[in-house]
This record gives sequence, structure tokens and C-alpha cells, in this order.
Amino acid sequence: MIPPEEIREHVKKLAQRISKDYKDKNLLLVGILKGSFIFMADLVRELDLDDIEIDFMKVTSYGEGTESSREPKIEADMSINPQGRHVLIVEDIVDTGYSFKSLLEILKARHPASLKTCTLLSKSERREVEVPIDYLGMSIENRWVEGYGLDTNERGRQYPFVGARK
Ligand code: IMP
Ligand code: MG
Repeated sequence: MIPPEEIREHVKKLAQRISKDYKDKNLLLVGILKGSFIFMADLVRELDLDDIEIDFMKVTSYGEGTESSREPKIEADMSINPQGRHVLIVEDIVDTGYSFKSLLEILKARHPASLKTCTLLSKSERREVEVPIDYLGMSIENRWVEGYGLDTNERGRQYPFVGARK
């Protein structure tokens, strides 16, 4: 569905925009585990910035299945205090929007200097709550996908491409 070369192009474009916007600022990237681990690793290596911190949060929204629980739970919190920092949330994919919505609420309450969102993929058709996406790699059709960090019941994260489930 999306070959590695195409993903690389999207990651590069996102990194260029982010590097420009955070030129004279500190940047705290908060990757949402587990899905964002490959995207985050590729993204930070394309950033032309020096003042970067990297942290992660683990949020579970689906459990075993492909239907959103609509009640994302924090399973592991970040370790850097985001207060006064320019925070950018890094997601693999935005689907119903519930994960981003609750993450934004949680992080806003911790008083970052600024708060923005970045996602490699978005299934706009599936959105149930409106969430701001400041940096979007690409919109995809409404199909379950895996690879490049994304899983189906914990399988398929290792593929270098994003592919639809058969
Ligand atoms: P949301 O809360 O419905 O926006 O769900 C977002 C989360 O659901 C993402 O961070 C993914 O972990 C997971 N997710 C949504 N769609 C897919 C998919 O097609 N493949 C794998 N994971 C997905
Ligand atoms: Mg996820």
C-alpha cells in the first residue's frame, strides 16, 4: 500500500517543516507507544535541530481487536516534565481521534510552552472527534493497516512498508 520509499519522502517533508518551525526553540518529542517507535526513529534522524528531547508515553486504545475502546488508557507515562517545553506529540495513525483528544487534554494540563501534534497517517473518514493535526504525513482510506510500527494484535510491526490487512 505505501512502500518504504514513499514513507521516507513523507517523513523527510515532515522533518523539514518541523525543523523550520522549531528553529530557535527547544523541542520535546513525545512518541506514543508502541506504534510510533519506527516513525519516531526515522523522524528524529531527519530533523535539522540541536535542542531536542525525546520521550514516550504508552497509550492503549484497542486491546485485542480493531475497534477503538474510545477510552484510551495511559499504561506508561513520560519521564520528562513537559512544563514550559515545546511539546510535539508523535503518533503513527489517527483514527477515531479519541487517543489524540485525551492526550492533548492530559498534556495541556501540564502547562507546556506549546503543544502540537504530528502523525504519519490519518483515516479522516473514521474521525468521531475533531482533533487538530499540525503535521500530517498522509491521509489513507478507511482500511486496517499494519507495518512500519503499526500492528494487528501485536503482529506486523516489523515490516518496512505500510500494508492493508488481507
Ligand atoms: P484513535 O484513538 O481511534 O484515533 O486510535 C489511534 C490508535 O489506534 C493509533 O495510535 C493506533 O495504535 C491504533 N490504530 C488505528 N488504526 C489502526 C490501523 O489501521 N492499524 C493499526 N493500528 C491502528
Ligand atoms: Mg498507537
